[in-house]
This record gives sequence, C-alpha cells and structure tokens, in this order.
Amino acid sequence: METLLIKGGARLSGQVVISGAKNASLPAIAAALLTEGTVNLSGVPGLHDIFTMCELLESVGVTAKWGPGCLSLDAGEASPRETSYSLVRRMRASFLIAGPMLARFGFARMPMPGGCAIGSRPIDLHLKAFSAMGAELSAESGYIQARAPKGLRSAHIYFDYPSVGATENAMMAAALAKGSTILENAAREPEIVDLANLLTKMGAKVVGAGTGVIRIQGVDELGGASHTVIPDRIEAGTYMTAAAITKGDVILGNVVPEHLTAVIAKLRELGVCVEVEESEIRVSSETRSRAVDIKTMPYPGFPTDLQAQFMALLSLAEGMSIITETVFENRFMHVDELTRMGAKIKIDGRSALVEGVDKLSGAPVSATDLRAGAALVVAGLAACGETEVVNIGHIDRGYEHIEEKLNSLGANIVRRSVPKERGASAQTAS
Ligand code: UD1
Repeated sequence: METLLIKGGARLSGQVVISGAKNASLPAIAAALLTEGTVNLSGVPGLHDIFTMCELLESVGVTAKWGPGCLSLDAGEASPRETSYSLVRRMRASFLIAGPMLARFGFARMPMPGGCAIGSRPIDLHLKAFSAMGAELSAESGYIQARAPKGLRSAHIYFDYPSVGATENAMMAAALAKGSTILENAAREPEIVDLANLLTKMGAKVVGAGTGVIRIQGVDELGGASHTVIPDRIEAGTYMTAAAITKGDVILGNVVPEHLTAVIAKLRELGVCVEVEESEIRVSSETRSRAVDIKTMPYPGFPTDLQAQFMALLSLAEGMSIITETVFENRFMHVDELTRMGAKIKIDGRSALVEGVDKLSGAPVSATDLRAGAALVVAGLAACGETEVVNIGHIDRGYEHIEEKLNSLGANIVRRSVPKERGASAQTAS
C-alpha cells in the first residue's frame, strides 16, 4: 500500500507541463472500436484509468500498443464479447465502449459500471439514447444487454441533463447509424469537441460539437486516424490551486486557456494573479486569498472536478465562502478529511459553508475519490507539518507523476510503501 507524505510550507515556483486529458483520452480509446483501421492517439497520459480502458478493449479483441508518445489501437479483430465485471467496476467510463460496440456489431453486453463513489451515477441517459436509435435493451443480474441486429437508426434525442458520458456514447453510436441523428441539450465540454474532432478524422460527419445541439450524419464505415488529445484542464486547474494555496509563482505549459475560463475568473476573484498566453498560464499570489462563492455547473460553468481542490484553497481564504455542488450529489467526502486538518466547513444540503482559517495542520487523511485526493494534496502543500494521504490509488487514476511534478516546483512529497494496516482501511471501488 502506498501513501503520499507531504511536508507542507514550501512556496511552489517554476514551470510544469500539463499532460493530455484523461477524460478526452477515455472516449478516444473507446472510439477505436468503431473501425477496423488503426487509431493512433498522441498525448494519452499513463494513468490507471487509461490502462483499465486499454485492458477493457483488449478483452474484446483490440490490440493496444504503446509507442514513444503514442498509443496505437487496432480493433480489426475485435468482436462483440461480454466484458468482465472486474474490469468495468473499476471505472464508470468503461460504459463508453457500449455505444461503439452496439454501433459496429449490433450487440453490447456490459456490467453496470462502477467508478468514484461520488453519488448516484445512473446510466439512464445513455440507455435512452441507444433505445431511441432502435436498440433493444434488457437488464439482468447486474448486466445491461443492448441489441440492434439490423444496425442502429437515426433519432432525435433530447437529454434531460447534458451528461458528458451519454453525449459521447450517443455521438459514437450515431456515427455509424443510418441517417441523421440530432442530440439536443448535449454536453458542451471541450472533451466532446475533442471526440468530435477525432470522429471527423475517422470519416464521421459531426456538426455542432461544443454547442447544445449536435448533428451526426451516419456513415457506413469509419477508418483509422491519428489524433492528439487536448490538455487536461482539470490537472491544470489542480496545479493552479496548488500555486495559489502556497502563494507561489507557477507557469503551466500545454494548456488551452479558454477551457479554463471559469477557473481563471474564480482565481482572479480570489485575488490570485493569473496571466494568460496562447498555451501557457502563469499563476502567482503573494497575499491571502479572499472568500468567494462557487457553484459547479456543466461546462462552460465551474467544473465539479475542481470543486474539492478549490475547497482546500478557500479553507485558508479570508472570510466565508459558499460552495454549491449541483452536478453530483454526495461529492463532499473530502470535507471530513479537510476538517481533520483544521478546516472549518459545514455541509448544508448541496452547499458547503467554508469559513477560512489562518492555518491548516498536517494530518493523516484518506483520499475518498480522485478529486478529493487531489484536494488533500493541495491542502497538505500549505499545511503546517506533515500530511500523509492514504488510498492514493484514487489519485493515480487521474494524475500523472503527481509527486514528481509538484516536487519539481519545490514541493516536498515522498511516495512511501507502508504495511496495509497503516494504509487504507477500505479502498473503495474506483
Ligand atoms: C464526466 C467526467 C467526470 C466529470 C463529469 C461531470 C469522464 C470520464 N468523466 O463523467 O470526471 O465529473 O463528467 O463533468 O469524462 N447522469 C444521469 N444519468 C445518466 C448519466 C449521468 O442522471 O445516464 C447524471 C449523473 O448522475 C451526474 C450528472 O448526470 O449527476 C453528470 O454526469 P455525467 O456528465 O454523465 O458525468 P460522466 O460522464 O460520468
């Protein structure tokens, strides 16, 4: 069992290069199932979630090869096999292979997905889209089966909520459906646009990605393509909070500033200096941050995946902040852990009231999910004394070389192997 031991107090400074986006890479890998051609992806980060996705594709006959800076996927020999629960339970995004499988083979049988325990995360919107495209669905013994023996047909689909995963699954399914599909109230995240760009390179006809209405004209077949995934805006946002909480001066390379508009606006409201270049952002701070209110929303609103890290930052700000989580219920599991470090936070329904304190104290804490874990690392960087984060398997799902990157900026973080009883009491399904 590994832990991260953080000696707090160092002011971060220097330059850090942001990795390719996990959440753009996962659907891009799934999209390789749509074609017999080879899909070459550059910039895919070496993360546990990515390896899980590759294993999942390999389990249905895809060949995945890692070369220098490139992941090559060849689904020429893939076939519609049932996927194993042990793989799918590790990661909710596993369900992203259902759309491509159904579109190419007319069949998908998947266990209900797992993932971070951050509230009820149903897949009804994915299933509604498949059903509208003519798939017959059945559920038994924890498995969902979808069949479309004669292929999928076009549909006019309205999403009750702009779900990222459901939009991605529907786009991939519609790419090979007969006719023209319209997705209304579609998610507008940059990862959706990135997937549309990849699908277009593969020969798909997609218009409107990045807006609430996406139109996809189905084609008979798709071909191979080469694509570089977008930078990880959530990793970037996490390093921005780390720079701010340590009153540091950090330049982030390989970023798309327009993907971070809400985050930059909030940091500036906090009193943090953010300077923006074409693909670089400099974050510096010399004074204590001011309290601000934050409400998570679908893109272009403030991302739920940065709520926990901003809570860590605001726990040291001057005044009272209100953080409202509207995307996921139960995404406040980091509150108890931050409180153990001296933060003053009260939960009131979907809001957390954060009363800024003068200092946080290092403590043993547990990463309950991916972004909660990142928040504890951010808090530990500014805390007095040592913070030991256990359950860091969650952090490794989403952050490439986190301690190397932070240490290169002057942090003092050591990854340690400890006996199991000193580590996590319960490693929740990730
Ligand atoms: C993706 C991201 C995740 C991020 C989330 C919201 C990936 C791999 N993961 O997750 O990091 O936190 O977007 O930005 O890209 N919902 C339903 N029914 C459904 C699907 C979703 O009710 O069929 C609800 C969810 O329970 C949740 C909300 O919609 O409350 C948002 O979920 P969704 O946008 O689907 O998130 P993911 O695609 O799972």
